[in-house]
Amino acid sequence: MKVSICIGSACHLKGSRDVISILQKLVQESGLEDKVNLTGAFCSGNCEKGVCVTIDDGEEIYTVRPETAQAFFNDQILTRLGE
Ligand code: FES
Repeated sequence: MKVSICIGSACHLKGSRDVISILQKLVQESGLEDKVNLTGAFCSGNCEKGVCVTIDDGEEIYTVRPETAQAFFNDQILTRLGE
């Protein structure tokens, strides 16, 4: 699964760096490094929704903040993997 986190300037200001590090930690703690590929993405023009995250280059844009990163991980990443 590819999870792309926007690292454009607007999303950066909303905490994309923290979102990435939180997700990285959760992926490692769950032993999912082989299944989840976290990657940076450029601004998609949806800055007001930031921090913008997409899964497998899908249409849907998820708004993830450092304080909601854990919930995103549980609800989207783990659920999709069937974990
Ligand atoms: S900076 Fe993230 S969508 Fe524009």
